[in-house]
Amino acid sequence: MVYPSPGRLSLIFSRPADLDDFAATLWDDLRQEATEALEKAPMLAGLFVASILDQPSFEAAVFHRIAERLKNDVVPHPLLTAAFTRAVRAAPEIIAAIQADIAAVLERDPACIRYIEPFLYFKGFHAIQTHRLAHWLWHNSERDFALYLQSRSSDVFQTDIHPAARFGRGIFLDHATGLVVGETAIVEDGVSLLQNVTLGGTGKEGGDRHPKIGRGVMVGAGAKILGNIAIGANSRIAAGAIVLRPVEPFSTVAGIPAKVIRSHTEDSRPTAEQLKELSYESFNYSI
Ligand SMILES: CC(C)(COP(=O)(O)OP(=O)(O)OC[C@H]1O[C@@H](n2cnc3c(N)ncnc32)[C@H](O)[C@@H]1OP(=O)(O)O)[C@@H](O)C(=O)NCCC(=O)NCCS
Repeated sequence: MVYPSPGRLSLIFSRPADLDDFAATLWDDLRQEATEALEKAPMLAGLFVASILDQPSFEAAVFHRIAERLKNDVVPHPLLTAAFTRAVRAAPEIIAAIQADIAAVLERDPACIRYIEPFLYFKGFHAIQTHRLAHWLWHNSERDFALYLQSRSSDVFQTDIHPAARFGRGIFLDHATGLVVGETAIVEDGVSLLQNVTLGGTGKEGGDRHPKIGRGVMVGAGAKILGNIAIGANSRIAAGAIVLRPVEPFSTVAGIPAKVIRSHTEDSRPTAEQLKELSYESFNYSI
């Protein structure tokens, strides 16, 4: 895990045009990687061909791959790909979010060196895309399908994200096992959530009761953030922390209950110019 340093603007935080440039070559890059993988691992030819080389576009390939993993007798492959197609037709910004998510994995996971890795193998990448579909269904009067996908994703990827929870783009779910995200949680752009993280309620509140995670936050393995509290942009939540109070931007908290162990100095904060770029409008949609 590499934490984006506060001073370094990442691809997903930069101008929309940068994401467009990235997206323009992503599909060709992925196909090239699949061709090379096919040479090195011909025994997996069926996977590379069906998932990538036989697909007409990046988004069709993503939907095919996720449908392969989720399909069962209740939700067969064509039903899932058709639902994804309906969703992106109505909300094409979902495609940009998926592109930013794949960029985020390459950017923050030092173990990952090719796009094909999250694309084919990483269940965190598959889980967040399943959630994007469930979220769209939830807001388009398809509550049962949305809840079924939550349940199915929980079976297949071990992540349990309520369909109403809102996520920005450039989301990295590292390992993803045991992630639980409640109904009224909001996770802004560029956030990394590690395994066994809970963004939950305290059990004492109703209504808007879940955490709000600011841009660029890293939540370490096993951390629990409870209640309708704001975790400020670019802060880090240590592995195993239990966070019950709001966290200031650019700080690190650890322990039970979590306490501040590091506050960034003025020097390490982004400049005013960089902060302006951080106000990239990508979160103005409800994916
Ligand atoms: C908190 C974290 C981000 C490190 O932040 P940092 O600012 O570099 O902190 P340091 O390592 O300098 O440690 C500062 C203090 O916090 C303590 N600390 C660090 N991580 C801690 C944790 N998870 N829980 C409790 N205390 C922790 C250190 O022991 C140290 O205490 P000391 O000053 O008494 O010696 C990192 O330890 C962490 O928890 N990352 C999560 C990574 C993760 O989830 N990995 C799983 C990958 S599968």
